[in-house]
Amino acid sequence: MQRVAVVTGGTRGIGFSITKTLAAEGYKVAALYHGNDEAAQKCAAETGAMVVKADVGDYAACEKACKEIAAALGPVSILVNNAGITKDGVLHKMPVENWHNVVETNLTSSFNMSHAVINGMREQNFGRIINISSINGQKGQFGQTNYSAAKAGLIGFTKALALESAAKGITVNAICPGYIATDMTAAMRPEVLDSIIKQIPVARMGKPEEIADLVAFLASEKAAFITGATMTINGGQYLT
Ligand code: CAA
Repeated sequence: MQRVAVVTGGTRGIGFSITKTLAAEGYKVAALYHGNDEAAQKCAAETGAMVVKADVGDYAACEKACKEIAAALGPVSILVNNAGITKDGVLHKMPVENWHNVVETNLTSSFNMSHAVINGMREQNFGRIINISSINGQKGQFGQTNYSAAKAGLIGFTKALALESAAKGITVNAICPGYIATDMTAAMRPEVLDSIIKQIPVARMGKPEEIADLVAFLASEKAAFITGATMTINGGQYLT
């Protein structure tokens, strides 16, 4: 049976790699995206995924998108909450909207999406929810009070929902990537990024596919006993 997977922020960066990997493994994949239509069309052409434009910070938009996906592909069995943005800056200079934008897109989004699919998973007695947190939710990061708080929040969300869902065959896990070569890290000041790469024992940035392979494993039947876990994948930069 071909299971249906939804990947938020699934047309670019780590999310694109997740979409591509899950499609290659035989899942029917829907990738949510917010702004970049060109990247979405490219992703659809390359992976065969359904692409759906929606703001994951908007509860009603998530509900509508998930209904469209279920109608087109069937009930959702796998949800990857990957969509995320940065609006870095020190707290004493941070405009309040940069707090709200980041928390809504990186944390509230996981509530919105999980709420839209969880009853369908409970009916199937099967589900996989995989939340993409971050090394910076584990250790904190100068200039990222908003992002670190949202990503740390995602770890607590994961643990609580894992407890609520275990009896229904649904696993809920968090992955904490370190610094991965994507547009997000490419947008950092080069000297700041260089100083961070020097802190990585493996001496390089991670590749999006390295995160996608872990997602694919957690989505599989083989990972049925892993739930409520926080998986660290950061080249040794921060050891938990
Ligand atoms: N620890 C302590 N002090 C620091 C510091 C650090 N890590 N980084 C900078 N400072 C100090 C500076 O030395 C400077 O001190 P002085 O004023 O005494 O010279 C002061 O803080 C201001 O630093 P900046 O000049 O860098 O300040 P800025 O306002 O121009 O920039 C910033 C602030 C945008 C947050 C910048 O520091 C920055 O880009 N930091 C990196 C944030 C980061 O890692 N983002 C990750 C994005 S990728 C991602 O998030 C994906 C993921 O999950 C990993």
